[in-house]
Amino acid sequence: MKLAIYPGTFDPVTNGHLDILKRAASVFGTVYIAVAQNMHKNPLFTTEERIAMIQNCTSQYPNVKIDHFKGLAVEYAQKVGASVIIRGLRAISDFDYEFQMALMNRHMNDNIDTVFFMPHEDYTYLSSSTVREIVRFGGNVSEFVPGIVKNELIRKLRSNE
Ligand code: COA
Repeated sequence: MKLAIYPGTFDPVTNGHLDILKRAASVFGTVYIAVAQNMHKNPLFTTEERIAMIQNCTSQYPNVKIDHFKGLAVEYAQKVGASVIIRGLRAISDFDYEFQMALMNRHMNDNIDTVFFMPHEDYTYLSSSTVREIVRFGGNVSEFVPGIVKNELIRKLRSNE
């Protein structure tokens, strides 16, 4: 059975990410959620916090493992023996960036393919930064993130005030 990685910042994980994960976990033998550490982004949550939230929301999947990585996604994939990188395509606006990244990753390692999943249409306009912004200004994100993530967002953003 094929091993796949699902890399991302997951700051924090949303129902959109979990929707992609559910689809990927039903197709691949093992899926590693790979939390990226070396981002230009300045994450709200530490790597450990992001991993803990993902662990809490994915315990129902016996074939999903959570890890973190620094550096190139293809190098991490090779290190864990994965031949697939999973990415989500929410809208046509994701395509250019994803196309470039998939081709560049394939250029770096032709043994690793990128496989795209489309999230449920309810999540096509969702992103981690939108969720953070809604919470920051007191809005309700219950339909976009699991309860534990919502609570962590409130705790983190209120303690920063
Ligand atoms: N549901 C909800 N939100 C989603 C989503 C989904 N299904 N898919 C993507 N998003 C959101 C993310 O939360 C993120 O939101 P944010 O910008 O508000 O934080 C945004 O869409 C972009 O997501 P994504 O494209 O997955 O970027 P990312 O920053 O999470 O991850 C990496 C990008 C880490 C996978 C990529 O930069 C990488 O592989 N880096 C390692 C270095 C490398 O190998 N680079 C490639 C060289 S070609």
